Amino acid sequence: MTKPPVRKPLISGNWKMHHNHFEALQLVQKLSYLISAEDHDAVEVSVHPPFTDLRTVQTYLMSEKEPIPIALGAQHCHHEEKGAFTGEVSPAMLAKLDVRYVIAGHSERRELFGETDADVNRKVAAILKWGMTPILCCGETLDEREAGATEAKVRAQVEAGLAGIEPAQVAAMVIAYEPIWAIGTGRTASSEDAQVVCATVRSVVAELAGPEAAGAVRIQYGGSVKPSNAAELMAQPDIDGALVGGASLEADDFARIVQYRL
Ligand code: PGA
Repeated sequence: MTKPPVRKPLISGNWKMHHNHFEALQLVQKLSYLISAEDHDAVEVSVHPPFTDLRTVQTYLMSEKEPIPIALGAQHCHHEEKGAFTGEVSPAMLAKLDVRYVIAGHSERRELFGETDADVNRKVAAILKWGMTPILCCGETLDEREAGATEAKVRAQVEAGLAGIEPAQVAAMVIAYEPIWAIGTGRTASSEDAQVVCATVRSVVAELAGPEAAGAVRIQYGGSVKPSNAAELMAQPDIDGALVGGASLEADDFARIVQYRL
């Protein structure tokens, strides 16, 4: 399925709390050998290491004669530029490290660290303010799916996450649909089910920000994406990329996902 050129697929590796900066360097070096120039022409790739690895990865990506076209990403940030927020990292600090994509509202942040929709919305605005691109996450629990509440949950998260964001900014954003029951479980949503929810996300964006933004916003699927299911998921008309956890920790697996079209 060919996507409009404005929706170049984005495959993102969310490393979560894995890999120290030595391991991060090894992984990104391997990726830079495995992912070819043609791959980069067809697919955008981002990696989201832990904060302590960002400078190392950034330096490596910039150190070659031709910068390596893997985009640097972060997993989280605070919404303020600076202040007395012990343990937090600001969007200004990430922008200074050439971070391009920042995940906002991952279900682990929401469930384990109490991030609310209002927090996520402030974060999305702050990431945009600092010239970076938010990857806004949404997704339902298994109970919500079984109760038929998937659409309502995802709609509410997308509406809240995008509140007050200009349509042109929404158009350039990424939204990741990640059913919580599929994250780290080995259980993937069927490509049909994933497509249905991603189409819902796009229609919510159309209501909020208009048809142009809806046609341009990139929607990723996340939740146990692996080399064996990436092509089928990516073939869906409203799936423009993948947010990959476990399978992004091994260079070979992640490169094979990036090469899903081969
Ligand atoms: P998973 O994680 O690929 O390990 O299921 C996805 C995510 O949490 O982004």
